Parts: sequence; C-alpha cells; structure tokens
Amino acid sequence: MTGNLWTIPWLLLAASARAQIACENYGVTVNSSACACPPGFGGATCSAPACGGDIFQSTQRSLVSGASATSLGNVSSSTCPCPAGWTGTGCNVCQAPTVCQTSFTSAGGNASSLINSDQTGLNDTLTCNTAPKVWAAGEMSCDVINPTLQGVFPLSSTLTILRTLNTSLTPQPNSTSFGPSGSVYAQLWYDGVEQFYCAASGCTQSVSGASGATWSCSGLQCTCRPGAAFCGRGNLNLTAVINGLDGDLTIACDSLAANGTASCSFQQSVLQGIFGSSGLSLSGCTFGECVLQGVIDTGNGTSNNSNSGGGNSLSGGVIAGLAVVGGLVVLALLGFFIGWWSRRKQRLRGAGFLGEGKGRHGGFAVEWSDVSYVVPQSYGSKAWIGSRGSRGPGDDKTILDGISGRVEPGQLLGVLGPSGAGKTTLIEILANKSKSGYTSGSVRFPGDPSRDPRTPRIGFVPQQDFLPVMLTVYEALLFAARLRLPEYVTDAEKRQRVEDVLEQLGLTHVRDARIGGQSSHSRGISGGEMRRVSIGVELVASPDVLILDEPTSGLDSVSAAKVTAVLHAVAHDTETLRPSQIYRIFDRIVLLAGGRALYEGPGGFAPADHFAAQGSPCAPGYNVADHLLDLAHAPPAQRERSCVLTQLEVLAGREWKVLRRDKTFFLAHIIISALLGVFCGGLYWQTGDSIAGFQSRVGCLFFLGSLIAFSSLSALYNVLETRALFVRERSNSYYSPIAWLLVRFVFDVVPLRIIPTIVISTITYWMTGLAPHPANFFKFLLILVLYTMCMTLFNFLLGTTIPDGGLALLLSALSALYQMTFAGFFVHLNSIPQVLRWLQWLCPLKYTLEALSVNEVNAGLQIRDTLQGVPVSVSASLIMHLLFGFDSNNYYRDVLVLFAFNAGLGASVVMVVWIWVRETR
Ligand SMILES: *[C@@H]1O[C@H](CO)[C@@H](O)[C@H](O)[C@H]1NC(C)=O
Ligand SMILES: *[C@@H]1O[C@H](CO)[C@@H](O)[C@H](O)[C@H]1NC(C)=O
Ligand SMILES: *[C@@H]1O[C@H](CO)[C@@H](O)[C@H](O)[C@H]1NC(C)=O
Ligand SMILES: *[C@@H]1O[C@H](CO)[C@@H](O)[C@H](O)[C@H]1NC(C)=O
Ligand SMILES: *[C@@H]1O[C@H](CO)[C@@H](O)[C@H](O)[C@H]1NC(C)=O
Ligand SMILES: *[C@@H]1O[C@H](CO)[C@@H](O)[C@H](O)[C@H]1NC(C)=O
Ligand SMILES: *[C@@H]1O[C@H](CO)[C@@H](O)[C@H](O)[C@H]1NC(C)=O
Repeated sequence: MTGNLWTIPWLLLAASARAQIACENYGVTVNSSACACPPGFGGATCSAPACGGDIFQSTQRSLVSGASATSLGNVSSSTCPCPAGWTGTGCNVCQAPTVCQTSFTSAGGNASSLINSDQTGLNDTLTCNTAPKVWAAGEMSCDVINPTLQGVFPLSSTLTILRTLNTSLTPQPNSTSFGPSGSVYAQLWYDGVEQFYCAASGCTQSVSGASGATWSCSGLQCTCRPGAAFCGRGNLNLTAVINGLDGDLTIACDSLAANGTASCSFQQSVLQGIFGSSGLSLSGCTFGECVLQGVIDTGNGTSNNSNSGGGNSLSGGVIAGLAVVGGLVVLALLGFFIGWWSRRKQRLRGAGFLGEGKGRHGGFAVEWSDVSYVVPQSYGSKAWIGSRGSRGPGDDKTILDGISGRVEPGQLLGVLGPSGAGKTTLIEILANKSKSGYTSGSVRFPGDPSRDPRTPRIGFVPQQDFLPVMLTVYEALLFAARLRLPEYVTDAEKRQRVEDVLEQLGLTHVRDARIGGQSSHSRGISGGEMRRVSIGVELVASPDVLILDEPTSGLDSVSAAKVTAVLHAVAHDTETLRPSQIYRIFDRIVLLAGGRALYEGPGGFAPADHFAAQGSPCAPGYNVADHLLDLAHAPPAQRERSCVLTQLEVLAGREWKVLRRDKTFFLAHIIISALLGVFCGGLYWQTGDSIAGFQSRVGCLFFLGSLIAFSSLSALYNVLETRALFVRERSNSYYSPIAWLLVRFVFDVVPLRIIPTIVISTITYWMTGLAPHPANFFKFLLILVLYTMCMTLFNFLLGTTIPDGGLALLLSALSALYQMTFAGFFVHLNSIPQVLRWLQWLCPLKYTLEALSVNEVNAGLQIRDTLQGVPVSVSASLIMHLLFGFDSNNYYRDVLVLFAFNAGLGASVVMVVWIWVRETR
C-alpha cells in the first residue's frame, strides 16, 4: 500500500518529462529537448519545414522563419525557392543526375564510406533516380487535383512522400530520422502550409509496367495539424476524418510520362469511399532519389520484382465458396459417370424380355378378405395441409365394411354400385394405393410360386386421363415403355411392344395423332381413344394385374363399349364385342352398397338370380354398369425401374419434343423479354453520371430485379400444370422424382427463364449505358441469372408444396412484394426498426440489388454534378452506401449468398417433391 503511494509522484514526473517534447512529422526523440527530424523538417519538435536547401544539409538546413505551434510555416516556392536541380514542395526531390554527388560532397559526405569493404568495385558515384521505383529511400512530390476537394479548398494542394525501402543504402545523413525500412511518410501542403502528416509501415514494393511501382503498406496513421486550414481554421474541420484514417495504404504510380512526371493514387478505404476506388488521385508526380550508382547496377538484375499481383486478391470466404461450387460440379460429373456405368451393367445383364414372356397366362389371382376402410370425419371431409384433427370416438365414417372376394387369372371382374358405394376405395386398396384413412383386412396376389416366384406387377389406370398432351399416341406409349420396361430390354423390343399394344387397343389409326387436351390449342384424339391410351401406357409395362377406376366414365356408349371390349380382349385374348354386351363380358361381379358387398360371385344372370332369391331383384345391365374393375395379367420380371440416366434421357426427350412443338410459348417469352428490355432501356436511356443519373441507374437495376421476381410467377403456373401428370406417372413408378425435377428444371429454367433474362438484361444494359467493361457486364449477368434461378426454385417450392393454385399465386406475389420492400431501394436498410430488420437477410433481391449496384459503382463510377455552382465529384460507392446501406466489398459475398439460396431452395424442392408430392387418396 505504502509502496504505491511512493510510486505515484514518480509516474507523474516521468509523464511530465516525456510531455516536454512531442516530435511532429514522425521525428524521433533524442533527449528531453531535441528531436531527430526527417529530411525537410527541423526545429525542436520537427514542426518547422525547411526553406530551400537540400536533404544533405540535415540540421544545418535553413528553416521557415517564424514557424511555431500557432503560426505554421509557409514554404511556397516564392518565399522559399529551391536550389537548381531540386524541386517539389520543400525542395527534397532531386532532378539532375549530378546534384546528389555535389550536394553530398559539399555537406561533408564521403561516398566511398557508404560502401562496405566486401563491395569494392561498386560504382560509388551518387546519382539521382527519377523513376517511381525506389532503391534505397526516395522522395516524391505530387499535385492533388480533385474537384471535390477543390470545391472546399480551391488553392493548390500538394502531397510530398518519402518512401524508404532499405535505409542502410541511402546516403542521407545519419542524424536524420528515417524509421525502419519499408515505411512511408507523407505530408499534405495547402497553399504552402503543411496540413497533416501520415505514416505507414510494413511496405512492400512491386514493379508494374515500364517503370511504375506500387507500394502496399499497413498500419496507416495520420495527424491533422491544429491551426491548419483543413483542421478547423478553414470552412471545413476535417480533423476527425484525417485522424481517423487507418488500415492499409497503397500508393500506386504509373510509369513516367515523356515530361518526367507520372500519375499516382493514394488509396485507403475511407478515401476510396469518398473519392472512388482509385482513392485520392495524384498528378504530375516528380520522383527523386539520391542513391549510389552501384546500388542500382547490382540491384537491377536481382531486384525483387514481385509482379503486380493482378488486382484484388480473393478473400478466404470467396475461395471456400468457389471450392464448394467446384466440388458440386465434380460431384455432378461423378454422379453422371456412376449412372452411366450402372446403366451399362444393367443393359448387359439379361436379354430377350419379350421372348421370355410368350406363355402369358401363368398368372396371379387377386384375393381380398375382410377389407374395411374407415375415415375419421374430422379430416376426411376437407384435406388441409397439416390439419390432422384428433380422432374422437363417434367421428368415423365407414366406407368399406368387411369385403372379401377373389378373381382368378384370365378373368375380368367388375365392381358395380351407386355413387358413394365405395367402389373407387375398394379398387384403390386392391391396387395398394396409399390411403389417408384406416385400412384393415388383407389383399393377396396368389400365384404359382413354382413357375413364377416374383411379386406381381400391378397396373392402375386412374379415373382421369393424365397424358402428355403435346405427344402423339405412339410417343406417349414409347415414353412409358422406355421408362417402365427393364433396362436390358432393347429399344427395338420396346418399340415392338408399343406396336403390339397399339394393335391390341385398336389405336393404330391414331398412332401419329397428338393426344391434345383442354389446355392445348389443337383438338386431339377422342375421349374413348384417350382412355385406351391411358390403358395402353399401363399395358406396355406388361402388368400382371390391371386395375381400372371407372374406365368408361364420361364416354358415350360406343366408346365405352370399345374400351370394355378392349379390356375383355386383353384378359381373354378374344375379339371385340357389341355395345349391348358390356355387362355380360364380366365373369364375376362384386356389387357394393354403402361399403358392404351385396354380392360377390359369377357375372351374367347369376347376380340377378342371387338378388331375386333374396327378394330384391336387381336388373342386369343396370346403368351403373360403367363402373368396372378389370383384372388381367401378363408376364415377366421383378419390378425393375429403368436407370436414372435412362429416365433423364427419356424425360428430356419428351420435354424437348414438347418445347419444339409448343414454339409459341418459348417465342412469347423471348419476344416479351426483348420488348421489356427495349422499354426498360428506353426508360433509363443513357443515364449520365449526375446525381439524378445515379438514381436512375440503381432504379434500373431494381426494376430488373422486380421484373424477374414477378415474371417467375409463370414458373409457378407451369409446375401447377404439370403436377398432376407427374403424380400419376410417379405413382406408377415411371421415374424417380429427382429425374423429373432435374429435367423440369433444365427445360423450364434454361429456355423460359435464363434465356429471356439474358435477352432483357443485355438489351437494357447497353441501352442504359451501365458500366461498359465486359467483365462488369458478365458479373451483372451472373447475378441476374442466379437470382432468376433462385426465384424459379422458390416458385417450384410453392407450386409443389401448395396444391391450391390460387393460394400459391397469392403467396408468390406477396413474397415478391416483400422482397421489393426489403431490397433497400424503398427503405434504407439501417433505418428499419430492429424487430423487422432481420427480414432483409432472407431477401434474395437485397443481395441481388447490392451485388448489381456494387458491380456498377466499383467499375469506377464517379458522380459528377454541380451543387449551387460548386462542382462536386464524389465516388458513387460512397453515395450508394449512404443511400442504400450497400457495402462496396460485398459482390462476392452476395454471389455466394445467392448460391446458398439456390442450394437451400433446391434441396427444399427435392425434399418436398420426394416426401409430399405423391398420390394420396
Ligand atoms: C539534446 O541533444 C542535442 C543534440 O543532440 C544537444 O545539442 C542538446 O544539448 C541535448 N540536450 C540535453 C538537455 O541533453
Ligand atoms: C504562402 O506564401 C505565398 C507567397 O507569399 C502566399 O501567396 C500564400 O497566401 C501564403 N499562404 C498562406 C497560407 O499564408
Ligand atoms: C559511375 O556512374 C556514373 C553515372 O552515374 C558514370 O558517369 C561513371 O562513369 C560510373 N563510373 C564507373 C567507374 O563506372
Ligand atoms: C548511424 O546511426 C546508427 C544508429 O542510429 C549507427 O549504428 C550507425 O553506425 C551510424 N552510421 C554512421 C555512418 O554514422
Ligand atoms: C476540429 O475538430 C476537432 C475534433 O473533431 C476539434 O477537437 C477541434 O477543436 C475542431 N477545431 C475547430 C477550430 O473547431
Ligand atoms: C506531363 O505529361 C502528362 C501526360 O503526358 C500531363 O498530364 C501532365 O500535365 C504533364 N505535366 C507537365 C508538368 O507538363
Ligand atoms: C535497369 O534495367 C532496366 C531494364 O531492365 C534498364 O532499362 C536500365 O537501363 C537498367 N539500369 C541500369 C542502371 O542498368
């Protein structure tokens, strides 16, 4: 305790001793009353600039008279003229080759003492190096010509810089403070008076061009001189800004022009924010370095000409992101290769599928016993996402109640009954469709295990025809055959199988007619033919049991008879029937009423007899006879899906045909986008670089982003439109959902999203006059394409998650509106209340707009305007940051974020399609 009391006076004493002298301009304290000053400064605190003289005169050099803490020295060339051969503010820059040697000698220097004993033979003449590249320690002096600065400080400003590369090689006097090698010292002079000084250390020099040099330093610090015009005495007090300059500093100089001067730039993040990416530009720079000729001679061959780096280095995050993207590409290639390999293996295995299958009636029977089906009332009535109400005791509705029956191979079974009797439910349970209610009882397919040990293939033809409307009948059947027959069946055999089925179904006359449908423009085949095509796509897969849900509903009696006849023929291999015979073709009949089987037994007149015996006669041919259940069977192999690669190939083939036939759709997209591009380009025709022009630029980018957000609504419509066909084909295992998604994505996204986006962006870009460099243009395209993909995937997600088209459209439009709100154009992102601010991070349009704006302003956009007669030139990146809160370093971050959005949405779509988009009945 007492010890502490004693130390306090000592500390105070030490502090006051140090406070006695504070060296300015990075002088070094020698003792309590003197500083070692850098070249060109003198006085007790190094605050007095030298007036005339040269750098070798050290402490003997004459200083500006009357310079003090309050009155700063004026070194304007009229009051302090430079001696011949020396130039620059403060006369530190040598210009003539001989002045170094003469000045050095007259100041008492001995050049040979500068050379170590092991370096004999070196040319020990001092020379003046006037190139930007430094050998030991070089001085430079530049004019600062910047309209923004001159708007406030109209007189001449100059910047002097001392760059030290290797202080042991410089001939300048030892009494001078140089700091460590690899330092930079700079002073800014306004109208001859020093305003502030800066230093940075850890510099490396890299040579560029013929004689240009770039110095990259760190640890910048600056000090504004109280009393100077910049630091409070003028119109504007820049003290806080100047003292706040820190971080990395780059001084980049071009090669010397013919008149011996060069342009340089003084780059620091704050200055770049204010003045643009090249920072404070310096012009008319002169360089002068007194150095031994021998140093240049020996250094010339071996100098560390680290090459000029090639622009901004990529950050770790960006490299990681690029690595991830590269990895994905490699994975995709690997997946492709594995798919190709496994398909090849499967194709080589086994052969002659159709040859094996000649003896057709080996056969499976269908046997069901005590099948019951109960639907909980609370949700059986209305299916709503996720609202699975709890099942209370008296809520249930029994649809089927203990139904049993059997049909033998080669027989046709009809299920008849009035509406609501449970016919569809029964056959769906027989076809093993997933049902939302509770099913009990058993369904078996007994076969002859000694002849046929496999599980049977069940074909199911739903009540509605979901067929690819743009394909011909033959193509639709071939599509099914290619996907549903095993991989080792050759394509020729598949074609043959399709021909056989066409023949069998009596469809040969419409073989090459388009199927058509409500949504297609041209009228297609008839309803009865469509029904038969639906049956055909099942038949080509050679099912053992074929189950049909109301195969004749909605058909006229002739068509109905044709369909029924075809079914009979398929089951019995017999010829066609007349319309009046529909009912009689059934070998057996199940008659359902209120979920109960009223009759199960042989067809013909047997049911009538049965019911007559029970006292309730039921006329044969009763007109609910269009409700049929058919069972038939056919050969081969274990349920085998085609390979993913085949699925992709066949699906892509179908989509390609559709795209080629429905050219108007594609052309409409292209023409509309071209028109929109011209409209947008005209709206923002050749925006200038005034403040208003800047607003137009960002407005144009925002317009493009919003346009993409809204036009991707049509992707939603496409998904909703194709969903039903997909669900049907998936439930019949045509292909895996992934294959469908991939093909869908490629055939929707590339022709209908990406190409139109490229068209509209290209037209708008060049008409608007955005950054003209090709690199900027491609970076712009990359962002828009990523955003387009992102929005398309988002609409895919909506379309697959929400089957209700109206609701999905509403949500999609609302999300576009939300994105526009949080994109940063309508409201400054930093002024949103904290509780809502996080919403911006979920907004892909924000990243898009930021990346597009950054790409635009980082191309060196400088806003030039006149405000009340004062010319203003401000870097657009500063204005962008102030107006929208965008950060000019965020381009690659935004690219990665958009990639992440794409990956996340893509994974969600895959998951949703895999888990959710399947048949539930
Ligand atoms: C401080 O150093 C200067 C020059 O090195 C010398 O002239 C002066 O006498 C010294 N002062 C003290 C107090 O040591
Ligand atoms: C410096 O001296 C020059 C020449 O005498 C004069 O024109 C200029 O106004 C002076 N600068 C200041 C800041 O006093
Ligand atoms: C040394 O270099 C100077 C030019 O800098 C040249 O004039 C002189 O001849 C050179 N001396 C020798 C010995 O090479
Ligand atoms: C220059 O000063 C350093 C210490 O600051 C000293 O080591 C060196 O010997 C001096 N060189 C000459 C030539 O006086
Ligand atoms: C200039 O600003 C600095 C800090 O911002 C302040 O300390 C100083 O007093 C100001 N000078 C004048 C003349 O207002
Ligand atoms: C030197 O030349 C450059 C370009 O060649 C020019 O911009 C600059 O004004 C010239 N400087 C002088 C002092 O002539
Ligand atoms: C140094 O090398 C450059 C090009 O390599 C050459 O033009 C220049 O004359 C050389 N300087 C000396 C002093 O040898």
